[in-house]
Amino acid sequence: MAVGGGGDAAGNSIVDIAVNSGDFDTLVAAVVGLALAWAYSAPPFRLKLNGWWGNAALPEFNTDTPAVRDFFAAFGGGLLLVDEAHSLGMLGDHGRGVTEAAGVEDDVDFIVGTFSKSLGAIGGYCVSNHPQLEAVRFAIRSYIFTASPSPSVIASTRAALRLMQQRPELRERLWDNAQRLYDGLKALGFQVSPQVSPVVAVTIKDRNQAIAWWQELLQRGAYVNLVMPPASPTSDSLLRCSVSAAHSNEQIDRIIDAFAALQPDSTAAAD
Ligand SMILES: Cc1ncc(COP(=O)(O)O)c(C=O)c1O
Repeated sequence: MAVGGGGDAAGNSIVDIAVNSGDFDTLVAAVVGLALAWAYSAPPFRLKLNGWWGNAALPEFNTDTPAVRDFFAAFGGGLLLVDEAHSLGMLGDHGRGVTEAAGVEDDVDFIVGTFSKSLGAIGGYCVSNHPQLEAVRFAIRSYIFTASPSPSVIASTRAALRLMQQRPELRERLWDNAQRLYDGLKALGFQVSPQVSPVVAVTIKDRNQAIAWWQELLQRGAYVNLVMPPASPTSDSLLRCSVSAAHSNEQIDRIIDAFAALQPDSTAAAD
């Protein structure tokens, strides 16, 4: 968990919390961090809660609604922004994300998300019932003096949104696939996150080892995302496997087999 700070053009303090793990202690640490930030910066401030890496935080919020409610209630004086980048399409009865799953959509001031993950397009959104949402149109760097998304991007985003709404069974399939891969990699002894999520991330201590395994997996037909410091949240590297509803059981098993065949790289430093 990381707590960062900053300020916006309107002079508000921004408290930016990146949550990398979904356990309750992390949430408590986030609250303590926020309290400290509150103490050192005069309200009004904005809080940005960031479920990072899709590893763990979001499903935990789903099952721990009271903790989320307490968390929100404790900072009722601020504005809360939730980033649904990793939960849109994955959580909630309609796929709207962690806030829908936790039943707290009305308690959140701003919800942002990206079209670039579950929707397979590019661009993003910010929704709010606050009139201040208008300010976004005039102030945010990525909106002003930039081209609008092309019609093809908008069309494919809308098509993906329709599928998300009309075919909830895809969401079930996604979670089945994620669970299958997660269980398989865990059984092989790989270090995975505490909870299953559609991004199954394997933690590798040594970056040379991570690079070697990433290449080996590619040769065996499994493309995964290699994340190394400083892009990874700690000094560890990650092999992130993005699972989709379109994967078949056979494909998931092939990925597990590819991991099973990995041998420690002799050039990698010992832990
Ligand atoms: C938590 C989170 N928010 C926002 C984004 C931004 O996504 P994009 O720039 O692709 O729209 C990402 C991308 O990885 C992310 O992980």
